[in-house]
Amino acid sequence: MSQLILGCFTALLFIVFVVFVNGKICKDPKLATPNDFYFSGLNVSGNAAPKSGVAVKLVDVNSMPGLNTLGISVSRLDFEPLSLFPLHAHPRASALITILEGSIYVGLFVPDPANFFKSRLFSKILNPGDVFVFPKGLIHFLYNIGNKKLLL
Ligand SMILES: *[C@@H]1O[C@H](CO)[C@@H](O)[C@H](O)[C@H]1NC(C)=O
Repeated sequence: MSQLILGCFTALLFIVFVVFVNGKICKDPKLATPNDFYFSGLNVSGNAAPKSGVAVKLVDVNSMPGLNTLGISVSRLDFEPLSLFPLHAHPRASALITILEGSIYVGLFVPDPANFFKSRLFSKILNPGDVFVFPKGLIHFLYNIGNKKLLL
């Protein structure tokens, strides 16, 4: 009897893990289509957050089901001149950026665990074609220092 209950419990756990991953329903592979692995629209900017001057267009599992469980997403960011994306960190993923148009000043802070005030700033001015990575969990910022729009 207890073995039966344990078996049912295991089956229940199995179903929970198989059907929902990161809160998203896994599609029956037989029902998947090419569009589950496709997104069109990064040629158009997102809507700028009020007063920020920065528009973010995110392609994640909500707009591309094939990203489910892969742990990756992609974004387009449009910065008006002299716009700042302020200090923040991504606790669960690193961010890799590449500049398409404009110039931007970026920086990340590498903390000194013994003394916060000895944190090191790693910063660069980036131009089209440049790539920069913000490792997972590290506080960083992006600032469009140019007098024209920036696209990354
Ligand atoms: C963006 O790409 C889509 C799909 O290719 C196209 O229909 C649309 O006209 C493009 N928009 C702009 C502003 O280029």
